[in-house]
Amino acid sequence: MTGKLRLGVNIDHVATVRNARGTAYPDPLRAALIAAEAGADGITAHLREDRRHISDEDIARLSSSLTVPLNLEMAATSEMLEIALRHRPHATCIVPEKREERTTEGGLDAARQFDHLAPMVKALTDAGIRVSLFIEPDARQIDAAVRLGAPVVEFHTGLYAEGVGLAQTAEVARIREAAGIAAESGIEPHAGHGLTYDNVGPIAAIPEIRELNIGHFMIGEAIFVGLAESVRQMRAAMDEARAPAPSPASGRGLG
Ligand code: PXP
Repeated sequence: MTGKLRLGVNIDHVATVRNARGTAYPDPLRAALIAAEAGADGITAHLREDRRHISDEDIARLSSSLTVPLNLEMAATSEMLEIALRHRPHATCIVPEKREERTTEGGLDAARQFDHLAPMVKALTDAGIRVSLFIEPDARQIDAAVRLGAPVVEFHTGLYAEGVGLAQTAEVARIREAAGIAAESGIEPHAGHGLTYDNVGPIAAIPEIRELNIGHFMIGEAIFVGLAESVRQMRAAMDEARAPAPSPASGRGLG
């Protein structure tokens, strides 16, 4: 089954630029509205424990102003749970977080943290918030997500994005297999991290994957072409990869 592939635009790095100077601009909400207008199906923002980019106020403003779904990325802490329950975003994506890391470096170990995650997933679900777990494309982690009752998993595509040659091909195969396992288990697979116009194709082509969350590259590209255009170009790259392969007969002349 090939459903529509949604694009979630991660606006964290608009806030990174703002915070570099401690000004009120550029405004992540303004970026979110432009992205939605240009075709983003949702907006993703990561409220990190150290508040290095997105702030509490950004989450409050995004929650009250967006007309597309907000996906709040958060660590599995009681502080973040309280914030999520206060703002009730459409979805939360639970991510691992280390203070010293430059970005989210690996997937959540949902299997090992099962007992810690279970009450959090339940509290978010009971509040009507869709829970996603940011995991490695790994059967053991998917199994933990099933047992936790998470309706969504997002596969970390960092290894794929950084990989070259055969390593990258092997990683696509691993993500494809994991997406199949998740879908068969009744879990909706998403993917994200490190995706660009050039590498999004093989991931977008995996039919079970229903959403990609992409930020850093598109926000960087916006410096050159504008945010609306960078969203449109990513959307086009995803759609092209998702398009059904032409049938053997098509494209041939009639004569
Ligand atoms: N999905 C998740 C769960 C993430 O943590 C991130 C990075 O914040 C992304 C997607 C987007 O990654 P990138 O900014 O590299 O596109």
